Amino acid sequence: MMAKVKNINLAERGELEIEWAGTNMPVLMTIRKRFEKEKPLLGIKIGCCLHVTKETAVLVKTLKAGGGKVFLCGSNPLSTKDEVAAALVKEGIAVFAWRGLQEKEYYWCLNKVLEGKPNLTMDDGGDLITTIHSKRKELLKNVIGGTEETTTGVIRFRAMEKDRALKYPVVAVNDAYSKFLFDNRYGTGQSTIDGILRATAILLAGKNFVLSGYGWCGKGIALRAKGMGANVIITEVNPQNALEAVMDGFQVMPMNKAAEIGDVFVTATGDRNIIKKEHFLKMKSGAILANAGHFNVEINLKALGKLSKGKRKIRENLEEYQLKNGKKIYLLSEGRLVNLAAAEGHPSEVMDMSFSLQALTAEWLVKNKKLVPKVYRVPEEIDKEVSRLKLKALGIKIDELTPEQKKYLKSWQKGT
Ligand SMILES: NC(=O)c1ccc[n+]([C@@H]2O[C@H](COP(=O)([O-])OP(=O)(O)OC[C@H]3O[C@@H](n4cnc5c(N)ncnc54)[C@H](O)[C@@H]3O)[C@@H](O)[C@H]2O)c1
Repeated sequence: MMAKVKNINLAERGELEIEWAGTNMPVLMTIRKRFEKEKPLLGIKIGCCLHVTKETAVLVKTLKAGGGKVFLCGSNPLSTKDEVAAALVKEGIAVFAWRGLQEKEYYWCLNKVLEGKPNLTMDDGGDLITTIHSKRKELLKNVIGGTEETTTGVIRFRAMEKDRALKYPVVAVNDAYSKFLFDNRYGTGQSTIDGILRATAILLAGKNFVLSGYGWCGKGIALRAKGMGANVIITEVNPQNALEAVMDGFQVMPMNKAAEIGDVFVTATGDRNIIKKEHFLKMKSGAILANAGHFNVEINLKALGKLSKGKRKIRENLEEYQLKNGKKIYLLSEGRLVNLAAAEGHPSEVMDMSFSLQALTAEWLVKNKKLVPKVYRVPEEIDKEVSRLKLKALGIKIDELTPEQKKYLKSWQKGT
């Protein structure tokens, strides 16, 4: 079996990490048990481009238990946990991933996964699908369908669909309620704060914490930063999200203003150039910058480099830029998603839901081979089932609609 990881001797540590994640992923483990018996993915080759974390390992082992043959690469140069990658190789998974790879190496790994000629693709950010559609078109004929884990990937595939460029069906796992309401909000919320604290060890209480993008990730980050005592300031472009932030009790202002008063800046927009030259120039010396969006395009690093006369690494995931104007600006994890690069990504309990959706959606794609090339939502029954199973795992019972209520909710005749 082919594989390339940093150090296979880390496998033992990785196995313990994966086991620990599994204890907090009861829904996915329930699905794994069924997959072991039913083998719904028998003979299916699955190309995965996902953050190589302990939770991803639990998913990969579940896909394997279902009969799938998995090929895995990382979906970001800094998010791979080397011990997890090593442990998966020991499990017989073809892994091509290590932390800190260069862009060329990143695409080398991705192409190694594609050499497996996948029948299903599982993306986080869309790089597998866009590569197949642009540079490896000969592989299209093997593919039944794909899934996408994150907002940025879904945006790319919707653009492909609009341009009629999409050649196979893709399920937007990100857009399932059991995903974005929990993973993007509570997962990114907690793990982004975790990443900032691990990288800096600063006190958040009393800091002006500027958050760009009050979407699902942003709402979670803002909530948690507020909980730690920070003064949260939101920047937005969408009037509804901005208004929501106002009514949630946050200050809202343009970045031009926020740049002058912020102590910590976090971007979570999925958009580019949120923090740029004019903002760096206005910042207080000592300002800390981090990104939680998928790509490292939200903070304009080129402009930051040009304004600086030097930089040095202070500690893991923390770099000091010395600006020509005498100020110092601190950048976390090279502007890559701070929760994965400086911490461990979302907690297992949250990934339990996202990856259960992934596993069930893979099964659904294999069962529904006649889908046309477009972006699909996760079927409602799968979406609801994942939340139902999660509640069950938490030991929480809820009420059920009575026949009378069901009828009432479907009718229009009854008024006052
Ligand atoms: N770090 C992680 O683990 C993680 C997890 C999930 C999603 N993501 C990524 O985070 C990003 C955001 O995801 P989301 O689900 O919150 O998306 P979303 O669409 O819910 O929210 C994005 C918000 O950013 C705002 N925005 C866009 N351009 C802006 C600008 N120039 N200035 C200020 N605000 C702007 C939008 O109006 C929107 O409200 C995406 O790149 C997504 O892929 C990261």
